[in-house]
Amino acid sequence: MKRLLILTAICACYASAFAQDITTLEKIGPVINVTKTDKTVTLNCQDKSQVQLTILAPDLVRVRASFTKPIPTRDHSWAIAKQDWPTPRWNLSETSELITIATDELEIVIRRSPLLIEFRDARTHRVLNADERPMSYDATGRLNSMMFDPKAGMFVAASKKLGFDEHFYGLGEKASRLDKRRSSFVNWNSDTPGYTEGKDPIYQTIPFYLGLQRGIAYGIFFDNSYRSYFNFGQSSQQRAWFGAEGGEMNYYFFYGPSIKKILGRYADLTGHMPLPPMWALGNQQSRWSYYPETMVEEVVNEYRRRDLPLDVVHLDIDYMHGYRVFTFDKERFPDPKALTDRLGRQGIKLVTIVDPGIKQPPDKNERYHAYDEGLAKNFFQHRRNGDLFVPRVWPGESVFVDYTMPEARRWWGDLHRGYTDNGIAGIWNDMNEPSDFVDQAGKNQLDVVSYDDGEKTTHAKNRNTFALLMSRATYEGLERLRPDRRPYVITRAAYAGIQRYSTMWTGDTNSTWESLALNIPMFTSLGLSGEPFVGSDVGGFIGRGNGELLVRSYQVSFLAPFCRNHKVIDGYDQEPWRFGKYYEDIIRKYLKLRYTLLPFLYTTLEESHRTGVPLFRPLLLNYQDDESTYNLDDQFMVGNDLLVAPIMKPDVTRRLVYLPAGSWYDYWTNKKYAGGTMISVEAPLDTVPMFVRAGAIIPVGPSLNYIGEKPVDQITLNIYPDDAGTASTTLYEDDGLTPSYKNGVFRRTTINFRRGVVSVGAVEGTYTPAARKFNFVVKTGTRITRIDQ
Ligand code: GLC
Repeated sequence: MKRLLILTAICACYASAFAQDITTLEKIGPVINVTKTDKTVTLNCQDKSQVQLTILAPDLVRVRASFTKPIPTRDHSWAIAKQDWPTPRWNLSETSELITIATDELEIVIRRSPLLIEFRDARTHRVLNADERPMSYDATGRLNSMMFDPKAGMFVAASKKLGFDEHFYGLGEKASRLDKRRSSFVNWNSDTPGYTEGKDPIYQTIPFYLGLQRGIAYGIFFDNSYRSYFNFGQSSQQRAWFGAEGGEMNYYFFYGPSIKKILGRYADLTGHMPLPPMWALGNQQSRWSYYPETMVEEVVNEYRRRDLPLDVVHLDIDYMHGYRVFTFDKERFPDPKALTDRLGRQGIKLVTIVDPGIKQPPDKNERYHAYDEGLAKNFFQHRRNGDLFVPRVWPGESVFVDYTMPEARRWWGDLHRGYTDNGIAGIWNDMNEPSDFVDQAGKNQLDVVSYDDGEKTTHAKNRNTFALLMSRATYEGLERLRPDRRPYVITRAAYAGIQRYSTMWTGDTNSTWESLALNIPMFTSLGLSGEPFVGSDVGGFIGRGNGELLVRSYQVSFLAPFCRNHKVIDGYDQEPWRFGKYYEDIIRKYLKLRYTLLPFLYTTLEESHRTGVPLFRPLLLNYQDDESTYNLDDQFMVGNDLLVAPIMKPDVTRRLVYLPAGSWYDYWTNKKYAGGTMISVEAPLDTVPMFVRAGAIIPVGPSLNYIGEKPVDQITLNIYPDDAGTASTTLYEDDGLTPSYKNGVFRRTTINFRRGVVSVGAVEGTYTPAARKFNFVVKTGTRITRIDQ
């Protein structure tokens, strides 16, 4: 604990030291001439620095700067999914003072001396974001002694003017509130069990943020995997800056003005989340650790006996033989295939944890295939002096794979045959910051060298992308091993682009009300950072918890994409029935509701896949012009239509709920409210305040105890007419299991309602669902006079 405090103090000190020193960094020199290609503008500076702006789309421009030397020809990023962009229309004009690049949407005005970049709206010429000072670098190495890794490289930074009423969102997984204004953050993937609000950094690095001022949004993705810093005016009212302990000044500027549009572009650039199998939306149960196999079956039997829905059970580290990944303990799990077959008959999928540490067998004569093969193929990480890097994790002394090597990734992926052949349905990647018990902060790893696309770089650059590449190896392995199934991977650590390979959860939370209150800002911030499939250990991971907390926790998570109850080994049991029938009955109600809402949730998840707009949203995403939503992080929306205002405090049974403009229906009573105001709502323990947007149609399916339990032969379309008496929706369906949706094998059905008349529009896609009947129910009691199909 004491060590933890000292560490926190050191981190805070790093951040504030840099905050002062950024102003004293060397500034890039003035522009002396400009060269142009079909996509790029290169600014040659007096100090031999170069800045390159690449016009990728009318609303997307990349800025690269190289200080006192030319831009390197080498250009590689693990985060970027799309390299080739069709050249948009743009032009360049110059005066003696200014260089102007104009696309259909953006106007970039560059002052030559000093070199200052300003992004404006091409139509209104309004400034969206402007340099506060020229891009800077630590020419003298003066900051190195303050850096986490003094040998990492040269500190680089960009500083932007801080808007008086500018709000900041995103930055991935941070233990902080929704609006990041006047705060600062560090990115350095870290294993931080029991983190509380303000703890920083934690597990992930997503150096992408959104700025929002008077309803107009832009985005910045600083694609630099070194330890990085983001300061949104924490210590100065003048500037919001970002910088890193090495690597390039390399950022992408996105223009909205809508956040949804930016998220779409960000997904185009760093990858769209593929659809996971539909059962990933089912309820999941975990425990560190369920063993032997009879206990797994006992848990499943309890779920079934108690009529509680369940699709997935996770096996934590004790399923292995002495924590050796890719093995099963022969006594605890003598026949995993027979187990998955038996569970499969009960509609249950098994997911196994796979950590990066491969145990180094203490006995030299022991044969352990993962270690022996990896060593023979030279796939493990080494220190600069050539020694094998031997961190200590759950299995004791271990080795890590160098996932930057394509052959090593392939080998790692193929090792999963040991799971897929045994019917394991998904993989849980944990401890991949990577955590090392020798030194959690990572100092013990600083001289570890990775192949890194031939660049042979050290930990300073590779730590934050380690989990991305591990998840990638896992995902690609599952894809190869089971090409007719969608892979399901879940990870703890990440870097930008992770959504291409993995879903995520928010790590080792506490079973406390404070931890629960972080769920909403963390899930929504992850959604605003390109990671739509998120969730948290329901009930919290560490500590005792209680029935009330567990119920309130389900009332948040039953609508999160990832809904998994998980608990530490030495915590009080936390399965839904553990605190007695009263609580269990309420939990059942919400789990059942989740399953009936699956047609709605799956439709919204597909929207996330296609558009990059998350399922679990802060209100500001749907109501970007409404300032009352800018700071609102105790309410959320699912898609465009469902608004939820959970209780996240003990002994509270009433709360204020903000309803944005429009009309809203109380989900439970169908009572209609006028929005644009705050209302006070009763919320006894069995009730979470929920409202449906007037104008929505919510598709609901049958009550299920697992996905596929029975045919979805009826879909009820609950119609909530707006003030003009209209409502609409688009229902998405596919087989829920195979990748064929990528080839158009899906069905999208548009349904409209207008004053008593329902029209089911022409369908899109080639998927033919099993016979199912649409029922229409108008929540105002309006009679349906005609159905046009
Ligand atoms: C880490 C994980 C946790 C898991 C434990 C044991 O703490 O975050 O979920 O239960 O390791 O594997």
